Order: sequence, then structure tokens, then C-alpha cells
Amino acid sequence: MRKSISLLMVALVMGAGVTGSVWAAEAKTEAKKEMPGQALAFSNKKGNCLACHAMPGTKAEMAGSIAPPLIAMKLRWPDRAKLRAQVWDATAANPQTSMPPMGKHEILSEEEIDQVVDFIYTL
Ligand code: HEC
Repeated sequence: MRKSISLLMVALVMGAGVTGSVWAAEAKTEAKKEMPGQALAFSNKKGNCLACHAMPGTKAEMAGSIAPPLIAMKLRWPDRAKLRAQVWDATAANPQTSMPPMGKHEILSEEEIDQVVDFIYTL
């Protein structure tokens, strides 16, 4: 179910040319720069979410495209606890995923996961 929503989002982004407006949201996210979770999500030493996920507030060429873009998170993940669980251990929902289990493998601390989730919940 969650996966089909993700695929739908990717299809929408590709099909409807929403990509342009995702990057246009860059200015809007300027104000969020102080959020510690943003630095974690963008850092190649920490979560490195950007390696796989495009996100508003980044240059398109910096981001990976092997995973769904992290956009409209509140809409797609109304239950914040489920979103946190996905970041904590993506293998629980999909044992075949290439997403590293951030909490289970202690790539991020519990506090860092909360900060990343706080940040992506604004996207
Ligand atoms: C090595 C690649 C990789 C990295 C790094 C990565 N992810 Fe993912 N992520 C994926 C893939 C692939 C999926 C697609 C779902 C699946 O495989 O089950 C995914 C799915 C997700 C989803 C659910 C999809 C959606 O938006 O509905 C969220 C949320 C997510 N990742 C957040 C993160 C966050 C936050 C980070 C950084 C802390 C991160 N990911 C780092 C590969 C990655």
C-alpha cells in the first residue's frame, strides 16, 4: 500500500512535470536552514538521504533518484510514528530495500532520527 503510494508519487512527479515546482520551492525552504534535521539529511557523513532522495531545497543535480522524492510528507504520512518507523528501519516494511536502517544500525541516534523526521515533515 505504502509502496504503491510512493510509486504513484513518482509517476505524478515525472508525468505531470511537478519537478519544476519542487525545485522552485527552494526559496521557501531557505527559512528552514536552521533545522538540525536538514543538515543531517543533506550530510554525506550522516543520514545522506540526498544520495537517494530528491528533496525541495536542494539543487536537482545533487540529489539521487533511486528513491521517491521526499515531498508532501504530511499528506502522504499522516501518522508521524509510521514515518519515523520507516526512517528507523526501512527493512521492516521492505526487506529488499536499499535504504539503510538508520536507527537499527545506529547510523543516526534516536535524537537525530527525531530531528530528520521533524525536517522531512516540513517538506
Ligand atoms: C541508499 C539509498 C537510500 C538512502 C541513503 C535513504 N533512503 Fe529512504 N528510501 C530508499 C528507497 C530505495 C526507498 C523506497 C522504498 C523501499 O525501498 O522500500 C526509500 C523510501 C523512503 C521513505 C518512504 C518513501 C516515501 O517518501 O513515501 C522515506 C520517508 C525515506 N526513504 C526517508 C529517508 C530518509 C529520511 C533518509 C535519510 C536519513 C533516507 N531515506 C535515506 C533509499 C534510500
